[in-house]
Amino acid sequence: MAQPSTAVIGSTGLVGSYILSTLLSQNLPVTTISRRAPKATGPTLNPIIEPNTDLWATSLTSLSPPPKTVFSALGTTRAAAGGIANQWKIDHDLNVALARAAKESGVKTFVFVSSGGTRGLFSNWAPYSKMKIGVEDTIKELGFDNAVVLRPGFILGEREERRFSGEEQARGAARAVGRWFGLGLQDRFAQEGEVIARAAVKAVEMIDKGEAKERFWVLEQGDIVRLGREEWKKEEGGNPSTRPLLIGPPSGPSPPYPYRMSGPVIPGFGRGSKDLGIPTANLPVNTPLTPWISSISSGVYFGWASLLLPPTHPNYSPAPNAVWSVFPMVMSIGYNPFYKNDTRSAEVHVLHKFDQDFYGVETRLLIMGYIRDERDYKGVEELVEDIMFDCEVARRSLERPGWRVKELGGEFEGGWLVRTHDEEVDKEGQKASL
Ligand SMILES: Cc1cc2nc3c(=O)[nH]c(=O)nc-3n(C[C@H](O)[C@H](O)[C@H](O)COP(=O)(O)O)c2cc1C
Repeated sequence: MAQPSTAVIGSTGLVGSYILSTLLSQNLPVTTISRRAPKATGPTLNPIIEPNTDLWATSLTSLSPPPKTVFSALGTTRAAAGGIANQWKIDHDLNVALARAAKESGVKTFVFVSSGGTRGLFSNWAPYSKMKIGVEDTIKELGFDNAVVLRPGFILGEREERRFSGEEQARGAARAVGRWFGLGLQDRFAQEGEVIARAAVKAVEMIDKGEAKERFWVLEQGDIVRLGREEWKKEEGGNPSTRPLLIGPPSGPSPPYPYRMSGPVIPGFGRGSKDLGIPTANLPVNTPLTPWISSISSGVYFGWASLLLPPTHPNYSPAPNAVWSVFPMVMSIGYNPFYKNDTRSAEVHVLHKFDQDFYGVETRLLIMGYIRDERDYKGVEELVEDIMFDCEVARRSLERPGWRVKELGGEFEGGWLVRTHDEEVDKEGQKASL
């Protein structure tokens, strides 16, 4: 890549994945180094998949030209790492090795997502604080042109795994506090992952404009909220026109996509048609049937919807040799921050004009990729504008032969969408996937 990219480490974690999607939404060239593929994709992404973390520092130094900025939101849990010693290897040793490698290769700005309370009374006693302090001090000593250390409090959002037992309840309580008392109180101790990511990106924008407060810039909780929520809203950060129109490479989706989901259309709150003029079909969130759904991040996805419309339905238009009608779709999985839902929903907007609703109709979804995070909005117009843009992204991305299902003249093997129940049972018996 000729243009220096930005490198993101920890891009499969909560804050890191938000940092990545924020940068991609601005069409910036980004290189990620991770054990498995990051969730977000985009034409400006260069993902380096390296299962052996010992080689990450070398992967970083071998980037040419070197990245101008490196973000590290790398961190694990004691449970996932298998004990404090192993957690130390990732949270401390690997972060330190990466910071050193970054400095060696000429990186100008290093951004580290640390943790709130690392410097407080008794904090030196806690191994977790020690790990973070060790990294912060190394970054300071290395003398980057600029460094940013973010010290968020308790992080809200969905992690792929729980950090400590009771976290779900604690997070639920933090959200509830936000709902009951307004965001002010909630912000003080529980910044949303997205806000932390935006604060990190915003800090780098300010550094690039020569507006950094200090060369070694520490963002405490209040600064994170100011940069990531208030400042961000004033600017064009979320303007859909700055988002890429194509997701993923022309060849087609890469693992873990596509995901499959199925079920009958159930009623939602009915606001889709009424408030937004964008009808949505809700599908049941069935964790035993689709275990991935509990770990997949909330956000907006796109792909194909196949409907078992009855022949009497005015829009019955089955694919050749099939009884299912296949259409492109966009969908939201999550809590709809604009409406502050309590339960997680999966809502599909089928890209087709329907003359009649289709409640109860059996539906199959092939989720081909991820578009963006869910957002909160100042007004309904902004939400509608963003969804309209999502529709355009889906339409254009799915038009490419590598993404278009064979049933509609493309090259992508999406046979599951149109198989009859009997064929499906046969195929599953033979352990065929799609
Ligand atoms: C493509 C798409 C993107 C969406 N993005 C968001 C979002 O960013 N934030 C949000 O609060 N809701 C989002 N929604 C959800 C809408 O708010 C939701 O569909 C609407 O509330 C209708 O829900 P209901 O039919 O259950 O009433 C999105 C929906 C779709 C289909």
